[in-house]
Amino acid sequence: MSEVSTGPVSVDMVDGVARVSMFHPPVNALGLPLRRALVDALAGIAHNRQATAVLLTGQANAFSAGADITEFNAAAGSPDLRELVALVEDFPLPVIAAITGVALGGGLELAMAATARLADPEARLGLPEITLGLLPGAGGTGRLPRLVGPERALDMILSGKPISAAQARRDGLVDAVFSDPASKDGVRWAAHFALKGDRTRTRDRQHKIAGAHAVRGTVAALAAVPLRKAKDPSAAQAAIDAITAGIEVSFDAGARVEREKFEERRQSPESAAQRYLFAAERAARKPKNLNPGTATRVARAGVVGAGTMGGGIAMALAAAGIPVTLVEAEQSALDRGLARIEQNLATSVAHGSRTEADASSERALIESSLDYGALASADLVIEAAFEDLPVKKDIFADLDRHVREDAVLASNTSYLNIDALAAGTAHPERVLGLHFFSPANVMPLVEVVRGSHTNAEALATGFELVRRIGKTPVVVGVCHGFVGNRMLEVRSGQAERLLLEGALPGQVDQVLTDFGFRMGPFAMGDMAGLDIGWRNRKAQGRTAPVSDALCEAGRFGQKTGTGYYAYEGRDRRDDAAVAKLIEGVSAKLGIVRRPISEQEILERLTLPMINEGARILAEGIADLPGDIDVIWVKGYNWPAYRGGPMWYADQMGLALVAARLRHYALLTGDASLAPSALLEQLADDGATFDGYGR
Ligand code: 3HC
Repeated sequence: MSEVSTGPVSVDMVDGVARVSMFHPPVNALGLPLRRALVDALAGIAHNRQATAVLLTGQANAFSAGADITEFNAAAGSPDLRELVALVEDFPLPVIAAITGVALGGGLELAMAATARLADPEARLGLPEITLGLLPGAGGTGRLPRLVGPERALDMILSGKPISAAQARRDGLVDAVFSDPASKDGVRWAAHFALKGDRTRTRDRQHKIAGAHAVRGTVAALAAVPLRKAKDPSAAQAAIDAITAGIEVSFDAGARVEREKFEERRQSPESAAQRYLFAAERAARKPKNLNPGTATRVARAGVVGAGTMGGGIAMALAAAGIPVTLVEAEQSALDRGLARIEQNLATSVAHGSRTEADASSERALIESSLDYGALASADLVIEAAFEDLPVKKDIFADLDRHVREDAVLASNTSYLNIDALAAGTAHPERVLGLHFFSPANVMPLVEVVRGSHTNAEALATGFELVRRIGKTPVVVGVCHGFVGNRMLEVRSGQAERLLLEGALPGQVDQVLTDFGFRMGPFAMGDMAGLDIGWRNRKAQGRTAPVSDALCEAGRFGQKTGTGYYAYEGRDRRDDAAVAKLIEGVSAKLGIVRRPISEQEILERLTLPMINEGARILAEGIADLPGDIDVIWVKGYNWPAYRGGPMWYADQMGLALVAARLRHYALLTGDASLAPSALLEQLADDGATFDGYGR
């Protein structure tokens, strides 16, 4: 049979094996056109008497990244993915899936319905549906436990993290691993399998899930742990229900639960929020006026400052294989910084997140010096010194003299004016901000700050470097605190006001943890230490009456055992002394305390942030509302299933957001709470943030 092409699918016969190739760039998402073409191709093969087996492959750098996410806003057209999967599993000939690139979500579900699976050594296999607020919806909750056992299946489905081909082979998810299984070797393997292979359907395999009672214990124990930590608890629970029914009752019973829960989740606001974020993250990767082609590939980087941030940034660079020179002013500070890096590497080896070999190669990539001259060969240098404008200005002026003329200079400042730093250099066009979040070796977000003189090459170089180290870059403009911290400051101001007006720290924090944040502002303040902010405020002549009073009483947070709470180790409890102190401060300021409802707390903490977000958009500091949402989800743990502040506002309705802000402006007499011009305008037009700026 010569090659037959049905749109995104082509079929060729090689030595009696019908090779079915999916080609639907960029990632072979299994949308309706691809599903139809696969069904047609399989129908053709079913009538071909010469075919002994099918080798199902994916071109376009992927076997398949799963269901087409953009189709989820409506019910799937026919054939749906479940029908396709059933067709493959019940096909009269053995179907061998040859996985190159990724097999994710519905892509892996399709492969699991095949009779056997081959994988390229570089392949990645996973069920990431949970990251979209979903559970696997095409039999994955039933078939994965039958191939890898309930423990591994739960781990993969609840974490959403893909595994390597080698791991998949160890777990029994794939039958063989070799290079390019879609080629002749795969064909030979399939032909041999047709003669000798075990054709038991995946759904009928029992040995990994035998002993249902023993399994029930495992499922219950495992389920209890991740659910508490799950990013989307409802999706996690739905997946657990389907897996459990599939093991304890039957494959078909599990499939019924899976189908019902999948539909429920697909139509849920939580999943809509996470699908929106998926698109927003991808849009943030393509900021306007940024041409990746103008980027310099950073062969060596420099970091100035070996404190917690500088050390974390050096680790993040080294982890991506980039040689880095860490420069400090004094030997003792450098020694402390290097010891901290060493400690971090040792801990991650002990926890199994790095091998000893990885740790040694990362260690070898970090050089250190007390001399700026050591940065002469760096393509990009990140300053991560003390957060003080004169200090940073001096460093930039020094760097300007020591680094190559074409090197990029970045500051890790979280608040300060990049243009002011650039002004003291001979080449302000090569200066930008790279605002990492703490701990920099862990947190996934970097705000890439475009100064008013930053040129296209410098911006693209910084942006591409952040992508290369596996973090999410979001381009923002210059203002105090950029996007994230500027909005955080607004929230902190309101949190402090709520204490003065009648709330207590435990009550405020509880509202935010109920909303889905991992921590409220006061628990977070205690963890970070209250004294730094106190000193900064004093230096700038600002006050925060409650926080100042706590610091004056020596309550600096966890490190002193008392702050907004009292601590025993890390366990915190409400402290009557704090309630008294706050009441005293309110009285001193002449504020009559009143009971404050949970609704007011939530609205006063979130709506002013949204208002500030609208100002940020109007000023052009962020290009898109989605950029703001990505920053808040990735940098500040805004719960992904609530989409980010701007998405949240859209769901609430902007007219209501504006009305509530007007109400609080009147109630508190704080004019800054009144809706911003952009918010008013969108609310009046009946518009949403989503869509703004496109
Ligand atoms: N559906 C539709 N479009 C998809 C897609 C999918 N499943 N996966 C990726 N794309 C699109 C992206 O939106 C992007 O589009 P753009 O070029 O217009 O911005 C393009 O493909 C390339 O994607 P990335 O920019 O993310 O490319 P990377 O190389 O960085 O990553 C990837 C590739 C690892 C495949 C990553 O895209 C990914 O993780 N995709 C999502 C996988 C996923 O969640 N699958 C499960 C879907 S739900 C499901 O299958 C339900 C089922 O159980 C019924």
